[in-house]
Amino acid sequence: MRIAFLGPPGAGKGTQAKLLASELRVPHLSTGDMLRAAVKERTPLGLQAESTMKAGKLVPDALVLDLLRQRLQQPDAAKGALLDGFPRNVAQAEALTTFLPLDRVIYFEIPVGELLPRLTERRSCPACGTIYNLRSHPPAKAGRCDRDGTELVHRPDDREEAVRTRLEVYNRETAPLLEYFRSKGLLSTVRATGSVEEVQAAVRAALGRRS
Ligand code: AP5
Repeated sequence: MRIAFLGPPGAGKGTQAKLLASELRVPHLSTGDMLRAAVKERTPLGLQAESTMKAGKLVPDALVLDLLRQRLQQPDAAKGALLDGFPRNVAQAEALTTFLPLDRVIYFEIPVGELLPRLTERRSCPACGTIYNLRSHPPAKAGRCDRDGTELVHRPDDREEAVRTRLEVYNRETAPLLEYFRSKGLLSTVRATGSVEEVQAAVRAALGRRS
């Protein structure tokens, strides 16, 4: 199955993608995670993308498309993939149709007022990718990952100013994809408020999976 998660920054796409990808046994392909790994490893792509990401703007399409195409050639993506954070604009969506036509797009609908606190209070584990929230899902031991004890990080683009830019970019570049996918009959909308378990149930229902 080839699925994409669409929604504003902080809507909970990454949290839900980890759960669904493990259930469906397909890789969770987050272009944001791939780019952050490239930044951490100081690859040429990472060096090119770093300042753009920190400012909350989109990395050029060609770079992200190359990254995703290469990742999809790995054997684990042969049976499908769960895309998180891709496509981000109509040009990326059009390009995607040439190498990974989607079966379904899940849109995470959430009031904008919920996003800023979710992001400014997010912490994540740089080793295993587990996502925390200081308010709704804090780690058992402050500042440390429950799974591997690694020190948690606050993403540089989760500072308030970068979040505001990301929201503007989302409204301008990504929100038009709602109509794009709706017109193709691919879009399902889930309410992204409520607990992680409630949103997970809504995503499963949107995909016709029994609880
Ligand atoms: P990316 O990493 O894709 O970030 P994003 O889309 O802005 O999404 P986030 O990861 O911020 O949020 P999320 O929806 O995954 O929420 P999460 O589950 O973590 O992109 C980062 C940057 O990379 C971009 O700005 C761009 O520069 C670049 N980039 C990436 N892809 C690109 C592309 N295709 N083209 C060009 N550039 C690209 O949850 C957020 C918080 O809420 C967490 O603390 C979590 O614990 C909490 N939470 C989750 N669910 C709930 C719930 N139900 N109730 C309460 N709290 C919850």
